[in-house]
Amino acid sequence: MTNRVLSLLEQAGERYISGEQLSKQLGISRTAIWKHIHKLKLQGYELEASRNRGYRLLSKPDKINISDLVQRLHGTKLVTGIKYFDTVESTQNIAHQLAQDDAPSGTLVIADQQTSGRGRMGRNWVSPAGKGVYMSMVLRPELPLQFAPQLTLLVAVALCIALREVTKLPIGIKWPNDLLIHGKKISGILLESAADDEKIRHVIMGIGISVNMTVDDYPVELQTVASSLRIEAAQPFERTAVIVAFLSHFEQFYRMYQQEGFAPIRMLWESLSVTLHKPRQFHTSNGIVSGEPISLLDSGALLFQLENGEQVPIFSASAVIDG
Ligand code: BTN
Repeated sequence: MTNRVLSLLEQAGERYISGEQLSKQLGISRTAIWKHIHKLKLQGYELEASRNRGYRLLSKPDKINISDLVQRLHGTKLVTGIKYFDTVESTQNIAHQLAQDDAPSGTLVIADQQTSGRGRMGRNWVSPAGKGVYMSMVLRPELPLQFAPQLTLLVAVALCIALREVTKLPIGIKWPNDLLIHGKKISGILLESAADDEKIRHVIMGIGISVNMTVDDYPVELQTVASSLRIEAAQPFERTAVIVAFLSHFEQFYRMYQQEGFAPIRMLWESLSVTLHKPRQFHTSNGIVSGEPISLLDSGALLFQLENGEQVPIFSASAVIDG
């Protein structure tokens, strides 16, 4: 029935169809029509509902076409396989399971929608159908566990450069790895590692990019702190282009990191950072202290310079007071 509602809306093109008309034509109640409209919205269709005129289809979800993606990734060696799902709880959970079942490094899980997308510190990641990029990759780097934070910073650099390239927006990195435009978060990175004796067994690199969300896609409490590429640029973007740009930059920086170590990545991170050189307060065991973040350390910590000249490394973003 949802498909029949959709096809009537498609036939109407730019015209509105009233709820009454739809209910008469399909022989179901107006409440049932409303439920199908709601279902279509969850599937990523954008619909306008006007009290006097009825419903109108504004846009269809931008589907990620995997054979098109594979073709456009031609030349990229890092991705060894892609698993695509319409709806999953979290791509992160699937990638963990695949890694445990010996999936090779480079296995990429992509979903059109997540019902329980996870962020850092147990937060929820808003993942409506057809609007964002939700992906997790299995990586098996030959690295001691203590270097895992460097990998997170590397991902932030690759993502920031890729998204700047696609959107031309002034995107910056907030320490350690949030991507912001005009102070609002548009992308998040979640690296989860499994290790044996301090040696990484695998890392699951989770990336969430808010590509084509509109303000209504966010709960009210997030609307002042979260945004999407589409909201900020006032135009939609093709999700496949975003994925391809990220993966090719990630491959380039990952190779650079393997060959030259962390120094060039640190320089790039510092040049893209919106955190450095902005005085901030932060929590220490001696209470709240003010200082200026002056550089990024190899450990991934942020180095603060206090007014008395003392330098203090801060390891956790939750210690830094926003504002
Ligand atoms: C954060 O900034 O808190 C990290 C957000 C990470 C979200 C992505 S979306 C794809 C992958 N699957 C998840 O459940 N989470 C990550």
